[in-house]
Amino acid sequence: MDSLQELVQEAQHAIEAAQSLESLEQVRVVYLGKKSQFTDLMKTLGQLDPAERPQAGARINTAREQVAVLLEERRLYLDQLERQQKLASEVVDVTLPGRREAPGTLHPVRRVLERIENMFRQAGFDVADGPEVEDDFHNFEALNIPAHHPARAMHDTFYFDAHTLLRTHTSPVQIRTMEQGKPPFRIICPGRVYRCDSDMTHSPMFHQVEGLLVDEDVSFADLKGVIADFLARYFEQEVAVRFRPSYFPFTEPSAEIDVACVHCQGHGCRVCKQTGWLEIGGCGMVHPRVLQHGRVDPERYSGFAFGMGVERLAMLSYSVQDLRLFFENDIRFLRQFA
Ligand code: FA5
Ligand code: MG
Repeated sequence: MDSLQELVQEAQHAIEAAQSLESLEQVRVVYLGKKSQFTDLMKTLGQLDPAERPQAGARINTAREQVAVLLEERRLYLDQLERQQKLASEVVDVTLPGRREAPGTLHPVRRVLERIENMFRQAGFDVADGPEVEDDFHNFEALNIPAHHPARAMHDTFYFDAHTLLRTHTSPVQIRTMEQGKPPFRIICPGRVYRCDSDMTHSPMFHQVEGLLVDEDVSFADLKGVIADFLARYFEQEVAVRFRPSYFPFTEPSAEIDVACVHCQGHGCRVCKQTGWLEIGGCGMVHPRVLQHGRVDPERYSGFAFGMGVERLAMLSYSVQDLRLFFENDIRFLRQFA
């Protein structure tokens, strides 16, 4: 019984030494657990005189009670301490500026498309539309490119099956427009086209703007005038434009439209492959056979058509050297056009 006070003191020291809830729990097991010295003492009560037992038992219980109180005090203290440490480590500085939602903007290619659309609308053209998944007839056959025609090899077509493909140009919309109405026609068709192609000036998906004007007495001079007017307005300055004789099965005569390379002012650089010129599109007088496929009488009507590469125009107006940048969606690149 004399050792009771010592035992309480010993427990007190152990409790004060505990630095975490975990080590405090170990202390509790040692002093208040089933195998503690208090339990042992209780067992010795049987050896005492029955008259002394109640008093001795009460003393042991009081000592145990003291230890229990000390434990609980320490537990509350450590619990609070741990909570404070946790809060301190997770502190949020509410005075820091928040992360804002960046407002989105139009993609540079979309901007160029909308500008081109507006310009042609003002010149009296309607905007037509056609499917990106096309059939062989509209993409090739009706455009005077029969099977095995060498021009098919120039198109690097993505096929679904023998008759279905991703359109390689917007020219099928010429046929679809003529099929659906009666001349005169005066339309443009902006849209996506696909080719198995990739380098600084080619990407597998790109945009073209098709133009078709069919009426009585339409001449190549009208074509040149429309294109030259458009390019002068588009670049907001007189740009050197060149109509280079070329070949398309669906136009006759045909030409390719070149614009002086804005990167080198026509001196020759990597972008224009040292030629000083950048090809932006093809054009020509609609071939009589194409008019027939569109159920238009070639004896009465004539027309011109053109197809321009939208990314090429965007490259020129924004001085972008690699066309593929438009499709990488690097936010640092896109932000410059906001
Ligand atoms: C054509 O696609 C013809 N349909 C154009 C046409 C229409 C001619 C109407 C006559 C009458 P071409 O394959 O050259 O032609 O492509 C036209 C333009 O698309 C090119 O001048 C170029 O500016 C752009 N282009 C072609 N391939 C790619 C590509 N892989 N990536 C980006 N732009 C391209
Ligand atoms: Mg070409």
